[in-house]
Amino acid sequence: MDGKAEVAAAAEALRAGGLVLMPTETVYGLAADAGNARAVAAVYEAKGRPSFNPLIAHVSDLAMARRIVRFDARAEALAARFWPGPLTLVLPVADDEAVCDLARAGLDSVAVRAPAHPLAQALIARFGGPVVAPSANRSGRPSPTTFADAVEETGPATLAALDGGPCKIGLESTVVALLDAPRLLRPGSVTRAEIEAVIGPLADAEDDAKRSPGRLARHYAPNAPVRLEVTEPRPGEAWLAFGPGGSGPWNLSPSGDLREAAANLFAYLRGADRTSPSGIAVAPIPHEGLGEAINDRLKRAAGFVG
Ligand code: TXA
Ligand code: MG
Repeated sequence: MDGKAEVAAAAEALRAGGLVLMPTETVYGLAADAGNARAVAAVYEAKGRPSFNPLIAHVSDLAMARRIVRFDARAEALAARFWPGPLTLVLPVADDEAVCDLARAGLDSVAVRAPAHPLAQALIARFGGPVVAPSANRSGRPSPTTFADAVEETGPATLAALDGGPCKIGLESTVVALLDAPRLLRPGSVTRAEIEAVIGPLADAEDDAKRSPGRLARHYAPNAPVRLEVTEPRPGEAWLAFGPGGSGPWNLSPSGDLREAAANLFAYLRGADRTSPSGIAVAPIPHEGLGEAINDRLKRAAGFVG
């Protein structure tokens, strides 16, 4: 089968109410028809995800997004600058059937994003409507960034799976709510500074947990205990190094490049978890730019965020 036939078969699976492993530029998603409550229920079940945690509706383009949410000038400006790409916008719902109640967890807002991966774009365009796609991990585990990891996490629950190779970015999209004052709900590879350059200052989400129902404390977590900002690992611990001089097999980026570190992060956490169940020690990572998102995921992996 060539790529086109696989995309057609995956779109057919969505139409039949089935789940599909969908590669994106950030992480692999577990996709379903956003308007089909039974299919959406199967997504929650496959992930073991609490049903109060809403899903992102993925669209092929701005026209499809306009069918499901109401855009204001700030949303227009952000979509023009960053779509297709790793930015999710939380906006007021316009059509409460296109993205069913369960997918929205009953909220009157919807999170939307247009992914940049060609297979995701082809699948959504071929399907012809919005597709919910949470990260394809089981709830509370690191997001899958390779096809093999996605298959291992939730593959058995799917009717079709598209292999898009390793995810280029490796961290989930940045989530910004535009319901009143713009708010950063989840840092990601589109940085705070890049967003503020377009729409001005962003408020933080941490002071308003209700608005980011998915931000559970222990999230993205391997089974092994994780220690952060470690300069000397203990015997038996896997060492996630960063920068020149870091020894061992798990250097997130020998050259100290944050993009490379983001792309490696979840795969290395998984790998280290397999080889060193006694513990994972992570070197200090700079907090600026993309480092904000990397440190956010690490804090959650270590269980530090309440
Ligand atoms: O990069 C990504 O965004 C990946 C790929 C597959 O696209 N998807 C992803 O989905 O990370 P998920 O479900 O793992 O994370 C969605 C986040 C959750 O934290 C959820 O609480 C939040 O978005 N969210 C969804 N709808 C929301 C809403 N209406 N209001 C506030 N937060 C919302
Ligand atoms: Mg997730």
